[in-house]
Order: sequence, then structure tokens, then C-alpha cells
Amino acid sequence: MYEKIWNQNKIAYGGDYNPEQWDEETWEEDMRLFRLAHIDTVTLNVFSWAALQPDEDTYRFERLDKIMNLVRRNGLNVVLATSTGAHPAWMARRYPEILRTEADGRKRKFGGRHNSCPNSPVYRKYSARLAGKLAERYRDYDNLVAWHISNEYGGECYCENCERAFRRWLREKYRTIEELNRVWDTAFWGHTFYDWDEIVLPNLLSEHFDGERTMFQGISLDYRRFNSDSILECYRLEYEAVKKYTPDIPVTTNLMGFYKPLDYQKWAKNMDLVSWDNYPSNQDTPAQIAFSHDLMRGIGGGKPFLLMEQTPSVTNWLPYNALKRPGVMRLWSYQAVAHGADSVMFFQMRRSIGACEKYHGAIIDHVGHEHTRVFREAAGLGAELAALGDETPGTRKAAKAAILFDWDNWWAIEYSAGPSRLLKYKDEAENYYAALFAQNIAVDIIGVEDDFTGYRVLIAPVLYMVKPGLDEKIRAFVEAGGRFVTTFFSGYVDEHDLVTVGGYPGKLRELLGIWVEESDALPEGQKNHFIWNGRRHKAMLLCDLLHLEGAEALASYEEDFYAGMPVLTKNVVGRGEAYYVATRSDADFYREFLGKLCGEAGICAAAHTPEGVEAAVRQNAEQEYLFLLNHTSTEQTVILERDGIELLRGEAIKKGNQLALPPYGVAILKRDV
Ligand code: GLA
Ligand code: ZN
Repeated sequence: MYEKIWNQNKIAYGGDYNPEQWDEETWEEDMRLFRLAHIDTVTLNVFSWAALQPDEDTYRFERLDKIMNLVRRNGLNVVLATSTGAHPAWMARRYPEILRTEADGRKRKFGGRHNSCPNSPVYRKYSARLAGKLAERYRDYDNLVAWHISNEYGGECYCENCERAFRRWLREKYRTIEELNRVWDTAFWGHTFYDWDEIVLPNLLSEHFDGERTMFQGISLDYRRFNSDSILECYRLEYEAVKKYTPDIPVTTNLMGFYKPLDYQKWAKNMDLVSWDNYPSNQDTPAQIAFSHDLMRGIGGGKPFLLMEQTPSVTNWLPYNALKRPGVMRLWSYQAVAHGADSVMFFQMRRSIGACEKYHGAIIDHVGHEHTRVFREAAGLGAELAALGDETPGTRKAAKAAILFDWDNWWAIEYSAGPSRLLKYKDEAENYYAALFAQNIAVDIIGVEDDFTGYRVLIAPVLYMVKPGLDEKIRAFVEAGGRFVTTFFSGYVDEHDLVTVGGYPGKLRELLGIWVEESDALPEGQKNHFIWNGRRHKAMLLCDLLHLEGAEALASYEEDFYAGMPVLTKNVVGRGEAYYVATRSDADFYREFLGKLCGEAGICAAAHTPEGVEAAVRQNAEQEYLFLLNHTSTEQTVILERDGIELLRGEAIKKGNQLALPPYGVAILKRDV
């Protein structure tokens, strides 16, 4: 269970450092301040392409050499970025093909960042070349701990290069135009294609309207897959370029949690380690943040990941950028660690003076010295992490419950015209996640290709798309004793978004022992109700009208013409059970229902805590670390269920004793397994 993901033996602490924006005198001062804050790791060179390559044939590494030597001399580890997240202006002028085209057909000019066409041969050539040159030059730096390819890959492009590449991608996937016509169901609205060159990208000039909505789901779905693959290919080219010189240095790129355009489950298979940037908005709940961490851990197969960026205080891009309250930065840092992070890193170390990020939080503020609240908090956390040493890195979370999450399913659900535009896949999944989170039940977020066998409860909210073999895999899970839960709008289509005819929920019908005949979409605010386990709950969003075909009804609708029809069903199959939740319900229902199910499956809470205090465990074969995280602004007490040593205060605490957690306070209890 112990997994060392990189060459660091403590929780790495630091973040994005942009000395290229400052003079050398400032660099020396930065080093002093880093020491004060116990910073040990810096991410360098994130946006320096224009500085490193002033023209087509010239490369200038002298300033980066100085920076690399400076940080090495000062004992800092380096996460070295390849700088390809923004191309140089001269390149855009000379090769306009590297500029992206928007969904409405507008060709972009130079500006911003993350602005390169992923299918531009020029971009691909020069980005991979730069990555290779960096690796060749800095391969012998023993403080080089990871590669950071580009930066927050994303977006999409609708240029002619992309259109040609899309046709090639389709040809490779479908081989014949007949197969393409079949999977896109082009008999609808006379869309039959006779030649690959008749195919155009689905955007506002063709199939799309009103932002992201589409008239041909199959085409748009394939474009999404293609776009994710295209950008992944750019990453892969750089990956290979650096691996050629530094085969043992792990490679990552900073991801963004639930980022819809890129299929991160596919991406992570190409990454040596997963890293991500945690920027919750002001309204996000602790459960929402934890959900993203668990997704990021899940795509990496459960291994520890890196928290590559978070703000020490404020962001600059929200409508209003509230300060993180005293203690919250520390709390959220430990929350990341509790969910599997082996680093706590920030954007950024020193606040820049120009352009749009000058009011983004940084460890070193414009005032320039260490006497700020933010610096003090950062230095305090730095000291704690230094004292923790090698506790926690490499340990895993152990979960017996899993939520299935799938990008193709996400895209397909939200492209769907009907039954309800209010249906958002992530929100539905989050309802189930939040219910487990509230009860301190560890959960993995896994993909349809992952192994289900270690879990006792598997929840697949809105499993609209059932890819080949998935139904059998779920059946095997249930037959072997697993408890499976799925919901409304599940089992409708195959991997091409073509409906599985013969009755909903298609390939899941037999397993669930039901037939869904119709589904009623309720407008926002409208409700039906049902009684389950002695309590009345809401039914919202969609209400399926279903018939039992072997399953038993656990609850029925109270109102409307389908009053009395089942809303919650259970089917016993083999040694397991398959549940169907035919509507969206309320938080109390999810909590009670999943609590009961996990209880029956013998899944225990990490600890019993007051509302607002999160408990999560990381462990290896010998030790476990129980994190207690007080997300409230008042003091809370937890009664310990076992003896342990509280690592942050260095005290032994006996079973049955009370542990007081100050507002936003944290405790880490080390215990033998
Ligand atoms: C992202 C980027 C950083 C910076 C921060 C600001 O995460 O990766 O370069 O722009 O946002 O929040
Ligand atoms: Zn393009």
C-alpha cells in the first residue's frame, strides 16, 4: 500500500515561482523568504517560451540556467515546466496556423495563453522540440523532481487543421463511411455522408446552436473525444521528448478537477503522476472540494497525487475574490493531504506587478516582506509540514464504496435534447458523494474501465451510456455480493449515443428487474414525494414511471397520475443487490439510504464527528493517519474511538478522550493498523 510517487520524502511545499518577472536582487530576497517559510519545491518556467526562443532558430537558456543554479544552491527541488502553455508572438505572426479558431468560426489573433491549435504541425513540432531541449540541458540536476508539461491544457479549436485531423481520426475509428453513417444515425435529417471530406466540425456554423447545444449528438460526442485526444497527443509528444533524456523523472501536467472538455481518465493513463490545481469558488462546500480530490486520486488508480496549485489567499478571476479566512488555507491544505496529496503547492510565490494576476494571492505580497498574515500562515504550515517529515506521503486511502464517473457519459447526458436541461451529471453524482462525505465514508471515484471487485457498494448515478461489456461487469459485481445503485436516465444508449431498444433501462433492465416506461421532467421547484423508512422525501427533476419485473418496490410516488408507482426498487441477484432510484431526491434521503446500504455492507465511517467536521484516513500496512478537519468557524469536539498520537501537537490521546478542534482546526492521529 506504500507508494512513493516521486523522489521526495516529505510533503513537498512550495509552488509556482516566476523569477523571470524580477531582477536578480529580488531573487536573493526570495531565497531568504523561502527559507523562512520552509519552502522546499518550486515550479519553474511555466510561461517562458518567448524568452527561451526569441526566433525560429535561436534558443537562449542563460537566464534559466541562472535560475536553476540559484534554486539548486538554495536546496530547492524543481518541478520544471516546459513553457508551452503560451506560444511566442513571433510564432503566431509567422505561422498563423498555430492560432485557434473559436466555435463560432472566428480565427483568434495572438493573445492570452493556452492559445495554440492542438492539431497545428508547427505547434507540435516546436513545443516538443523545446521540451526536449530543456530535458537535455537540465537532465543532470539532481533536484529536478518532476516534469510539468505545458499548463492546464484545455479548450478546443475549430480550424481547418482540426477539421482535417477530425476526418482522419474518424476514418481510423470507423474505417468505412457506412459505419460512420450507422453510428451517427445520419438517416435522420438526411445527413448521409458519401465522402469523408463532406464531414465538417460540429460548431455554431454547423450542428450547434445556443452555445453548446447540438442537433447531432453522435457527431458532437465524437468531436469531444477527438478534441481531448488531439490535446493529449500534444502532451504525449512532449512527454516522449523529455523521457528521451530523463527516463526516470516522473512527468505530469496540472489538471483541473472536474474539467469537462478533457477525458482525464484517459489522460491519466499517460501520466506518471497526477497533479491538479484546486481553486474552489467562494460557494463551494468541503464536500465539493473533497469530491474533486477523490476524482483526481481515482484517475491515477488510487495512488497519491500532487496538489500543484492553490491560492494562499485570494484568486483574481472570481466575480468577487474573498479572502481565505485565517486557518482556511491550512485546513484545505490538510484536506488535500487527507484525500491523497503528497504535496501542498501554491500559485504563486511572489505576486506579479502587471497584467491580470497582479491581485492574485501569493506567499510574498507586493509589500515585499514577511510581515503579512498570508506569509505567517504559510510559514506556519511550512514548519508543520517540515516537522511531519515522512509521515503520510506514499500512504493510500482505502475505500469500500465507489462512485462511477465517466466522461463520455458526461458529454452525452449534457448534449441530450430532452428529457430535461436541468439535468447535470456532476451535480447528480455529487448528491451521492455528499451523502457519503457527510458520514465520513471513504469513497473512490472510478471509471468504467476500472476494477470493481474490491468494492462492496458501487454507485453509478445517471449511467445513461452503457458501453460494451459494462453491463456484464456490473452484473458480475452484483452476483459476487456487491450492492449496486443506479438512477433515472440510465441504460438508455450505447457508446455512440444510439438508443438500446426494447425498453429502458436497456442493458441494465434485467439486472435491475424493472421496466421504465416513461419519464416525467419536473420544472424547477416542482416536487412529488415518497415515504421511505418512515420519512417523507422529495422527488424532483425527473420521475420515472416504472414497472416491476422481479424487483421489489421500496417506496412509491405519492402524487400525480403515477401515484402508487415505484420510485425506489431493489432486485436481489446472485449474492448481491441492485437498486434503482427513479428520481432525484433530497440530501436527507441520500444520507439515510446510502448510510443504510453501507451499514448493511459492513462499511464503517472513518470516525464519528459533529456536523462540519470531516474525518478521512490514509494508511499503509503498519500505520493509519486519521485526519480530523473542522470546516466550521466554531470550536468542535471529537471523542476518540481509539488510542493515537496526535502528530501536529505531538500528544498521545487515549480512546474515549475528547479532542478539541479550534475553528478551522486540524488534527492528525497516527495509529497502528
Ligand atoms: C491557474 C494557472 C496559473 C494561474 C492560476 C491563477 O491555475 O495554472 O498559471 O493562472 O490559475 O489562479
Ligand atoms: Zn485547430
